[in-house]
Amino acid sequence: MKEERTFLMIKPEGVERGLIGEIIGRFERRGFKIIALRLSKISKEQAEKQYEEHRGKDFFDGLVSYMSSAPTVSMVIEGENAIAAAREMAGVTNPKQAKPGTIRGDYGLDVQRNIIHASDSEESAKREIAIHFENLRFN
Ligand code: RTP
Ligand code: MG
Repeated sequence: MKEERTFLMIKPEGVERGLIGEIIGRFERRGFKIIALRLSKISKEQAEKQYEEHRGKDFFDGLVSYMSSAPTVSMVIEGENAIAAAREMAGVTNPKQAKPGTIRGDYGLDVQRNIIHASDSEESAKREIAIHFENLRFN
C-alpha cells in the first residue's frame, strides 16, 4: 500500500444541505488525515481548470457554472491508498446507481449535484491541489 494525497471537494449541494461534518467525518473515521481544508466559493476559472478534461462535453458549461455558483469545501487528505479509497467512498458518478454506504449513494440523486468530487489519479490529485491550494507547502 502506498501513502498518498488526494483532493476532495464537497460540491455546493453538500454544503447547502449541511453535510460538511458528515462527509469530513467519514474520511476522518476511516483513518485519513486532513492536511488542508477550505470553505470558499471557487471562481469560474478554477472550476474550468478542475474539470478541464471534460471541456467540450455537453455537461461542461452547466457543471462549471454550478461548481462556481455557491460555496464548496476543498480539502486534501493523506493516507494509504487515499486516491482509490476516496473514489470508492464517493461511489459511482451517477448517484442513482451509487451503492448505499457510499457518499453519493447515501446523499445524492442528481448526476451534476452529486455531492463530492474526488481526484481520479495521482496526476489529477497533484494538478487539482495546485488549482485550489496555490500556496500550500508540503514538508
Ligand atoms: P468528479 O470528477 O466530480 O469526482 O466525478 P467523476 O470522476 O465521478 O465523474 P466525471 O466523469 O469526472 O464527471 C465530472 C462531473 O461532471 C458531472 N457530470 N454530469 N451526464 C451528465 O450530466 C454528467 N456527467 C458527469 C458530475 O457532477 C460529475 O461528478
Ligand atoms: Mg472526475
